[in-house]
This record gives sequence, C-alpha cells and structure tokens, in this order.
Amino acid sequence: MENLIGVEAVAATEAGAIAAARLMGRGDRNGADRAAVEAMRRAMEDSDMSGTIVIGEGERDEAPMLYIGEKVGNPDAATEVDIAVDPLEGTNLVATGSPNATAVLAAAEPGGLMHAPDTYLRKLIVGPMVAGHVHIDDPVDQTIRTIAERLGRNVWDITVVILDRPRHEQLISDVRAAGARIKLISDGDLTAGISVAVSGTGVHAVMGTGGAPEGVLTAAALKCLGGEIQATFAWRSDEEKERARGMGLDVDDGGRVYRTNDLASGENVVFSATGVTDGELLRGVRFFGGGARTHSLLTAYQRGTVRFIDTVHTFDDRRPPRVRL
Ligand code: FBP
Repeated sequence: MENLIGVEAVAATEAGAIAAARLMGRGDRNGADRAAVEAMRRAMEDSDMSGTIVIGEGERDEAPMLYIGEKVGNPDAATEVDIAVDPLEGTNLVATGSPNATAVLAAAEPGGLMHAPDTYLRKLIVGPMVAGHVHIDDPVDQTIRTIAERLGRNVWDITVVILDRPRHEQLISDVRAAGARIKLISDGDLTAGISVAVSGTGVHAVMGTGGAPEGVLTAAALKCLGGEIQATFAWRSDEEKERARGMGLDVDDGGRVYRTNDLASGENVVFSATGVTDGELLRGVRFFGGGARTHSLLTAYQRGTVRFIDTVHTFDDRRPPRVRL
C-alpha cells in the first residue's frame, strides 16, 4: 500500500509545487495557493487510490477543491486512504519569493490521521535524539538544556525556530534567557518542523503556536523520520470548539497533550513534501526551457524508507529534457 500511495503522493506534491512556483514573487498569495490546489487535485484525479480529504483547504462552502470530506482519486480503486494536504505551505513565502515554501501531502489508511479543525495548536517539536526526553509543559530553559545535552552541544549552539508573532513575545524572551539561538520565521512552521528531524538543516526545535492542520502533517512526517511533536489545542472561539466537537474531538480535554501517534495514528503513513522555493530542507522548483526540476522528500512509515527525490519534468515533448547533474 505504501509504495503505491508514495508514488501518487509525490506526483501530487510535485504538481502543486510547480504550479505555485510559477507565481513566485507576484505578490499574489491566494493565486499561488489556488494554482497549487488545482494542480494537486488534477494529479490526484489520475491516481489509483480512493481518497478522502481529512485535512484540506477548509470545508465545502469555503473551498471549491480539496475541501474536508471531498472524495479524490478513483472511487473504484482497491486502496482506500485518508489524505491530509497543505498544497502550499507558506502562501506569503511564495508571494514574496522567500525561502522554505513547500507543497505537502500525507496519506494513511482510513482513520490514520487526526481530523483536526482549522484552529491552532501550541507545539513543541524535536528531533529523533531528543524525542521522549522533553515535555511541552516543562520550563523553556529546562527543555533547551535537555535538547543541548541530548545533541551533545552547548545551549548557545541550539537553534529554535519560532513564528514571528506578537503571541510569542514571552516565549522568545524565555528562549533568549535560556541562551539558545532563535530563528524567527514569518511563516512555515510545518517545513521547520520537518527540518528538525533531518540533521544538517541547522534546526533543533520548533516552539510556539501555529496551525493545527500543519501540526497533523508535521506528525505524519515525524512518525516516519523519528522526531516528536507534542501539542495542545489553542482554541480561538466557542464556534471553533463547536466545529471540533462535530469532528469527534473532546474539546474539554483539560489541556491534553497530543503526541505524534495521537495526531498520526496510522500504521501505513506516507508523507511527501516538494520544495517550492529554496530552503534548508529542499531545493525550490528550477525551471528551464521546456521543463522543470523538483526536489522532494518522500517517507513511508512501515517500509522505513526516506527518499529524497530529484525529478526532471518535461512539458514540451518536442524538446528532450536537458538532464544535468
Ligand atoms: P499558509 O501557508 O496558509 O499561508 O500558512 C502558513 C503558516 O505560517 C503556517 O506555517 C503556520 O502554522 C500558520 O500559518 C500560522 O498561522 P498565523 O499566520 O495565523 O499565525
């Protein structure tokens, strides 16, 4: 199952990334998002799986495509999956040509990904060496010290990524007081969360409050890569809670800490991300005459595989692809 979904997943994120990348720097975040959604939707139409969107662009009345509950792919296909998508993670990043925008999709057997409403999660994300040794409710300085110890570094060699938002003022000052380095990002805590689990990206933790859908997608990636996300819901309104109740969530959970396996409980989890703009983890789409080249991460939990996929796409069959290293 994972092999089949993996091929379909990466084809979808590659299509989304190419479509969004064409609009890089145009100042049109909605246009770039729409282009990614349409391309991903088209790619899924050709796939040999019967999918249900559980995390998508919103509910039916808000989004015409890839909305929660939408059936995608081939309804007669033998392989049934739940799908979580973020066709363009970092709409503003593409609009301004900034780094780290990605196109993302996760899939699992039905029920294998949490149906998270479009609200916020407070998150702590760490890599494989630190997983199991920290708790989201521990004081920040203790968490930073533990990360440093587990990675065999000094605290001043630890880099924490935090979304640059007024709500994080206290967190930022706590991390500074603990002595760690901070990378404030304008958008994209999902891409940063995946980077934590990949050595060499220079990201050691992500802390703070960001999108809940992004949290579930992060969990799917970390399930395969071996890191850990811990998260608690940060509701913004009673209406949000009501919608979440309708999705079967216990909204009066007393601040329950959801972990990787709560957010992505499936046994057949596949995760794919394709770079739209260049970043620490993935290269962005590079266009050439008659084609484009994409860079993706494709992971499969059961098979224990992590693939970095470098693909040359030819748009014009009269021009052979000019493949180069
Ligand atoms: P979009 O791709 O939808 O623009 O979201 C980007 C993002 O920065 C996420 O990475 C993050 O989880 C969320 O938005 C944070 O939300 P907010 O901008 O409301 O703080």
